[in-house]
Amino acid sequence: MQDRASNLEEEAILAGDLPRHIAIIMDGNGRWAQQRGLDRTLGHRQGVKALKPIVKEAARIGIEVLTVYAFSTENWRRPSHEVEVLMGLLVEFLASETAELKDEGVRIRTIGDIARLPLPAQQSLLWAQTETAAQTRMILNLALNYGARDEILRAVNRWRTENQDEALSEEQLSSYLDTAGLPDPDLLIRSSGEFRISNFLLWQLAYAEIYISNILWPDFDAVELRRAIRAYQARHRRFGGLG
Ligand code: IPE
Ligand code: IPE
Ligand code: MG
Repeated sequence: MQDRASNLEEEAILAGDLPRHIAIIMDGNGRWAQQRGLDRTLGHRQGVKALKPIVKEAARIGIEVLTVYAFSTENWRRPSHEVEVLMGLLVEFLASETAELKDEGVRIRTIGDIARLPLPAQQSLLWAQTETAAQTRMILNLALNYGARDEILRAVNRWRTENQDEALSEEQLSSYLDTAGLPDPDLLIRSSGEFRISNFLLWQLAYAEIYISNILWPDFDAVELRRAIRAYQARHRRFGGLG
């Protein structure tokens, strides 16, 4: 019965319009740990574990781009031990999962000011991106030291040095952002029940549908991802027109 229900759900998802690009704010690791009397960093460890099945499920469904908010420009405000653990988990994740992601056809790329990450993190990212560069099934876009305001300022400043006299157009600005070449997200998911953007993709989310999940990120699973996609498919996007 359960199988039949999930087959029907599966067919319904694949028959509907799929979001090309899903962006996720992976929030709630700290609360997940605190609820269990554990250190926040154990929530981050569990949160990293939760990511792999989501990436695999998104690739299986046929999503083209999955962008995940892993570390914001404001997250440096956290205690230095927590920041160190997060950077270490990134290196661990890339070392242990890149080969399997490559087998799944996933290309890894990043957004954010990567040059300001600790050197081991930068080196792991460079290695993982090179390893997976030829993969075409899905892009896993890791937002690291990412803040949308920082991204927009970096884009505008770089654009200015290259184009002194022109006026900046929407297309040009988009092409100078870290997300250059990617479609804008169709669906934004935030876990842990918070209703805010937290400096994520401010330009690119202009017409994204938003899905807030009450599930804390370490408990977020493929079932919840499919629920978000079904909710997206039930929405009526108007893009400012009469639709
Ligand atoms: C999200 O979980 C992960 C990062 C921001 C790195 P949090 O650490 O923000 O968890 P909460 O919001 O405190 O529960
Ligand atoms: C957003 O979550 C950043 C990431 C998930 C990486 P935060 O937990 O940092 O956001 P706020 O502080 O609740 O707005
Ligand atoms: Mg949080």
